[in-house]
Amino acid sequence: MKLVIFIVIGYIFGALPNGVWIGKYCKGIDIREHGSKNSGATNAYRVLGVKYGIIVLIADAIKGFLPPFIASKFGITGNFLLIIGMIAIIGHTFSFFLNFNGGKGVATSLGVFLFLIPQVTFTLIIIFIAVVTITKYISLGSIISAIMLPLLTYFYPTQNNLNKLPLVLMTIIIGLFVVYKHKSNIKRLLKGTENKFKLK
Ligand code: G3P
Repeated sequence: MKLVIFIVIGYIFGALPNGVWIGKYCKGIDIREHGSKNSGATNAYRVLGVKYGIIVLIADAIKGFLPPFIASKFGITGNFLLIIGMIAIIGHTFSFFLNFNGGKGVATSLGVFLFLIPQVTFTLIIIFIAVVTITKYISLGSIISAIMLPLLTYFYPTQNNLNKLPLVLMTIIIGLFVVYKHKSNIKRLLKGTENKFKLK
């Protein structure tokens, strides 16, 4: 029963469309009608500016972090925490607040994995920043980080008493899913028309 409650909580947290709500209520703009049309932090930054981009990034990461974190405080452990984290990421990408549409899962995954596997996640943050600094493509930073996620998870020691095999499997699923959600970015990257990151 406890697990079911946290699965529901994970989905509801994940589904909170921070980018869309913050854009609408703070600036009267629906970010899904501008820029890449994505509801995530990158497009919030692009459309609403740096302040709101950072707020959406933090809010989206928090909604990924909290469900497995709170569940762990209620005695939920191991593979169940993985399931709750995955549900939060799925909630973000298939939000019932947005007719089962949503973002690409990067910031919410960041929050989930900051809790589950912080060492791997800090390494991925460095990789992400390096790729974006060199190439100026946030999407490429996200894609490369998503590909590196299962590889680093495999080679790093596990944390939070998680079992390696299900953890690696979960990171493969999430990594592939995040890459899949970037299919429009991949097409633009190949055509050379992808948006470049500009400091505002
Ligand atoms: O986290 C999403 C980012 O990788 C790409 O966002 O808005 O450029 O499609 P966007």
